[in-house]
Amino acid sequence: MWKDLDISVVRCDSEKRKDKPDQKNLGFGKFFTDHMFLMKWDRENGWHNAEICPYQNFSMDPAAMVYHYGQAIFEGLKAYKGENDQIYMFRPEDNLERMNSSALRMCMPRIPVDKVLKGIKALVYLDRDWIPSGDGATLYLRPTMVAVEPALGVRPSSQYYFFVIMSPVGAYYAEGFNPTKIWVTDKYVRAVKGGVGHVKTAGNYAASIMAAEEAHRAGYTQVLWLDACERKYIEEVGTSNIFFKIGEDLITPPLNGSILGGITRDSVIQLARSWGVNVIEKQITIDEVLAAIEDGSLKEAFGSGTAAVIAPIGELCYQEKKHVVADGKTGELSQRLFDELQAIQNGRQDDPFKWIV
Ligand code: COI
Repeated sequence: MWKDLDISVVRCDSEKRKDKPDQKNLGFGKFFTDHMFLMKWDRENGWHNAEICPYQNFSMDPAAMVYHYGQAIFEGLKAYKGENDQIYMFRPEDNLERMNSSALRMCMPRIPVDKVLKGIKALVYLDRDWIPSGDGATLYLRPTMVAVEPALGVRPSSQYYFFVIMSPVGAYYAEGFNPTKIWVTDKYVRAVKGGVGHVKTAGNYAASIMAAEEAHRAGYTQVLWLDACERKYIEEVGTSNIFFKIGEDLITPPLNGSILGGITRDSVIQLARSWGVNVIEKQITIDEVLAAIEDGSLKEAFGSGTAAVIAPIGELCYQEKKHVVADGKTGELSQRLFDELQAIQNGRQDDPFKWIV
């Protein structure tokens, strides 16, 4: 299995292997498997020393540039255990290609997608006993790249680490698949055009935390982000893309530079279109959404992302006024998308789009 990899494999000693967590208490991203993938980059050698090794701490210089200027990008994808213990991954090349787009914007090196995918497959296979098989539980993979050159000048680092760690996870939100309550903020913004909102870089998530904390304190699950300029166009929800079913149309904001091009977003668009749903990528204002709630034409709203898959929205709170969405219940289309995506991801269903590896 490892021979054609060109990636060295050092297995974790059996006595150092960790106990697997109880599937009921997985939460999200609390436990990590026994192995990781690691490779290093510098200007002279490019990517080198690719290895699968025991999960371990890094020793990094306190001047490592990632600690100071945040050159850090990451991805999130999942591995699933289907019938007969077959292992599936969902659109992994798309994640790795997106990482390369992020790398370009952040002046970081591109990764060799084929080789990294081979490494990821080998890593998942080695830790296959960690893939949960319960309903909705999966193995979440986190490919990450960080700048490690010890230097304080603001410029691209000349050394990087790329690594993949893996975590068995349950539902992302405490609500599970039940509708979430969303806090619309016109005080904070997530991203600006010309900035890095379309890139999966750590700073976007750091910048979102204060608004999310305020939303949590007010009893809400997540934040709905508006555009930075006019604070009226809807952009994203929490760490997810957002969709509204208004009348017979499924509307989602277009990828205009400040919105992340979610792989689940793209899968929702393709799936819904294949069912004959009229999916429209267009700008939509918070006032239009509230008017559609008022006149009853807003049938459903949901977030889409790798972590939560589909997260129905049951309430929006905007300028201190609460608006119940679709009677606070999960809509039919949200449910169908959730079920169908999970069935494809678990190999229980045909894969007409060839998403599964
Ligand atoms: C996702 O939904 O895929 C995310 O990006 C969430 C992650 C930051 C935990």
